[in-house]
Amino acid sequence: MAPTAAEATPARPIRIFDTTLRDGEQSPGCSMTASQKLRLAHSLADLGVDIIEAGFPASSTADVQATAAIARDVRGATIATLARCHAGDIEACARALEHAHSPRIHVFISTSPLHREHKLGLSRDEVIERAVMGVALARQHADDVEFSAEDALRTEPDFLAQVCGAALAAGARTLNIPDTVGYTTPAEIRALFEYLRAQVPGAEGAVFSAHCHDDLGLAVANSLAAIEGGAGQVECTINGIGERAGNCALEELVMALNVRRGWFGARTRIDTRRLVPTSRLLSRITGMQVQRNKAVVGLNAFAHESGIHQHGMLRHRGTYEIMRPQDVGWQQSQMVLGRHSGRAALADRLQSLGFTLDEAQLNGVFAGFKALAEKKREIFDADLEALVLGADAAA
Ligand code: KIV
Ligand code: ZN
Repeated sequence: MAPTAAEATPARPIRIFDTTLRDGEQSPGCSMTASQKLRLAHSLADLGVDIIEAGFPASSTADVQATAAIARDVRGATIATLARCHAGDIEACARALEHAHSPRIHVFISTSPLHREHKLGLSRDEVIERAVMGVALARQHADDVEFSAEDALRTEPDFLAQVCGAALAAGARTLNIPDTVGYTTPAEIRALFEYLRAQVPGAEGAVFSAHCHDDLGLAVANSLAAIEGGAGQVECTINGIGERAGNCALEELVMALNVRRGWFGARTRIDTRRLVPTSRLLSRITGMQVQRNKAVVGLNAFAHESGIHQHGMLRHRGTYEIMRPQDVGWQQSQMVLGRHSGRAALADRLQSLGFTLDEAQLNGVFAGFKALAEKKREIFDADLEALVLGADAAA
C-alpha cells in the first residue's frame, strides 16, 4: 500500500512529557507513596519518556520527598516539578530539583475569563504580571522553564497569545496549552496551535505543548490534532489516569503515532514493548484496574472470541489486528473460547493441546463444547481436555 501524505512526511520528534506522577497522582484513588513514585519514575525512564513530571512540591511534604528522591536517582529523562506563579512554590521546586541532571521548573497560572474572575480575582494585566514574575523567578533556578496557561482552551485567543509572548520574553522555553476541562474538539485545538504559532512573538524558538483532559473522551484525538497544528510536546499519563475523566493516555497516543507511521511525520522515543509492563506496574501500585476493553493495554485489546474473527485471525492476523501484541508488551493474541466461537478456533486449540481428532470426533467435541459454552462464560483448556477424554470414554 502506498504511504498516505501524512505517512510520507519527514520525521518530526515529539517529546513525551509524562505527568502520571503529578496530574495522574492527584486524581481520586491514585495516590502513591514516595517509594512507589520512585519505582514508577524508573520505569517511565526505561519506557523512554523525555520528561517526567515528578510532582508538585508545594502541595505536601510527601511530594517534597518524592520529587527530591526522583530528581536524585532517576537518569535518562528531564525531571520537572510544578509550581504556581508564587515565590514559595518556585523555591520549593528549586530545592526538590537540586540534584537533578536535567531539571525543569513548570510554572502555571489560569488565563480564562472564568478562572480570572472566579478563581484568581485578577485582571488580564495582573495575570500577565504574575506569569512574567513566575517565569523570571523560575529562570533564576533553572535554564529549562515551562509555562502553562491553565484553561487555555477557554481563554480569548488574542489574550492567550499575549500571555504566551510575555512568558517567552521572560525566559520560558516551552509553552503548554492545557485543555484543563476537556472542552475542546480536534478542529478547534489544531486551529489554536496554528494561530499561536503564527501570532506569539518569538514562537519560532519555542516548543508548543498540548495537555488534554478527557472529559468528553477526546483527549487523545485532541492531542493528535494539536500535533497536526504544530505541537512539539504532548503531556500524557499511563493508563490515562488524571483529574476527573483523566488525561491523554500515553499508550494510545504513542501507538496512534506508530501505527499510522507517524502522524504528520511525528516520532517519539518510546520503547513500545514496555507499554504493557508499565501499565501493569501502575495498576499494581494504585490498585486501579484498567478496563478490559481499554485500547492497547486492556485485557481484551488482543482477544478474539467470535467465530468469524477467530477464523480470520487463524488465516491472517491482519484481518482483525492493526498492531502486533508483542510490539506493545503482550506475549501474544488470545483466542478466547466461548459461546461465540466456532469450529476453526476449537480445532486449532485442540491441536495445540496435542489432540488429533478425525472429523466425526471433532463434531462430537464441538457439540459438547457448544452445550458447555451456554452455561459457562469462558471455556478453558482443562474443560476441553475433559470434553475430549469424556468423548473417548463414551466411544
Ligand atoms: O490541566 C491543567 O491545566 C494542568 C496544568 C496545571 C498544567 O494540569
Ligand atoms: Zn491537567
